[in-house]
Amino acid sequence: MQTNGNSEAKRYGVVTGANKGIGFETAKQLASQGITVILTARNEQRGLKAVSKLHEIGLPNVVFHQLDVLDSDSIHSLAKFIADKFGRLDILVNNAGASGVVVDEEGLRALNIDPASWLSGKATNFVQSVIKTNCEKAEECLNTNYYGLKRVTEALLPLLQQSSQGARIVNVSSLRSELKRIPGEHIRKELGDIENLSEERIDALLKRFLHDLKEDRLEANGWTMMLPPYSISKAAVNAYTRILARKHPKMYINCVHPGYVDTDINWHTGVLTVEEGARGPLKLALLPDGGPTGCYFDQTELAEF
Ligand SMILES: NC(=O)c1ccc[n+]([C@@H]2O[C@H](COP(=O)([O-])OP(=O)(O)OC[C@H]3O[C@@H](n4cnc5c(N)ncnc54)[C@H](OP(=O)(O)O)[C@@H]3O)[C@@H](O)[C@H]2O)c1
Repeated sequence: MQTNGNSEAKRYGVVTGANKGIGFETAKQLASQGITVILTARNEQRGLKAVSKLHEIGLPNVVFHQLDVLDSDSIHSLAKFIADKFGRLDILVNNAGASGVVVDEEGLRALNIDPASWLSGKATNFVQSVIKTNCEKAEECLNTNYYGLKRVTEALLPLLQQSSQGARIVNVSSLRSELKRIPGEHIRKELGDIENLSEERIDALLKRFLHDLKEDRLEANGWTMMLPPYSISKAAVNAYTRILARKHPKMYINCVHPGYVDTDINWHTGVLTVEEGARGPLKLALLPDGGPTGCYFDQTELAEF
């Protein structure tokens, strides 16, 4: 492990949903770079197990704290823990995510969809028979991926503002968020209108989405039909990233598609390893001073929203 001996130069980072997948790998890589990592997970047992794994491979600079992004008490308990123990935060990787759908996994495997069709969206019609959503799942998805991320960020902002060099916030998004993938021009325009974007406008848009889902009007009203709640939740994350970056010009706040990674969230249809998937989040968590802010990255490359 590389550490900076000098405690002034020590950096503290939080990763959400870090008990497995890309979050776990990101926590591991950050710890390998000498960052003191607060590895969080909603389930204490799973989180502690992940921390033990990192201690066993020679990374003692990882501590656990429980965090369910859906639970305000849990979020505030994390903020208090960091305030009491470290007094500031330098890096926040908002990684926790939910798919927002119910899947017939056997049916999905039988379809044997090739990765290129997944990525391009060609498989959208194909998957409708095996990937379904409902209002409950959709609300859970928006609450986890967007509102949960927002609540965690807001609770930790006072600590991030104490970072001497400008905190780095990384919002793990998805290529499903990209505006060009949304069929409805009015939705694309609204989400892409950075001058007039506001949190209230995002709220109103998500309300409309849920209303259209309830009325079975998603396709008719221009929403994307590939993982509908997931896609719009990540588009909201991107929009929020831009709003937040504008509000906090001293910080480096970006969002990133980690790549199509083999993890639980996509029922292991992904093709990249978690090491490959963590590259983008890691790069943005460790951006040098003067680096980009308010941007979207496709893995490690700057890309169009
Ligand atoms: N894999 C891909 O191809 C891909 C592509 C684009 C974007 N992403 C994004 O990458 C991020 C990480 O996903 P992954 O691929 O690593 O999937 P994963 O292995 O399924 O990890 C998801 C993580 O989020 C956690 N989580 C879910 N709900 C939570 C909540 N309410 N509070 C706290 N943690 C919660 C899960 O915890 P439990 O273990 O307790 O469920 C798990 O630790 C997600 O934001 C995902 O949308 C992934």
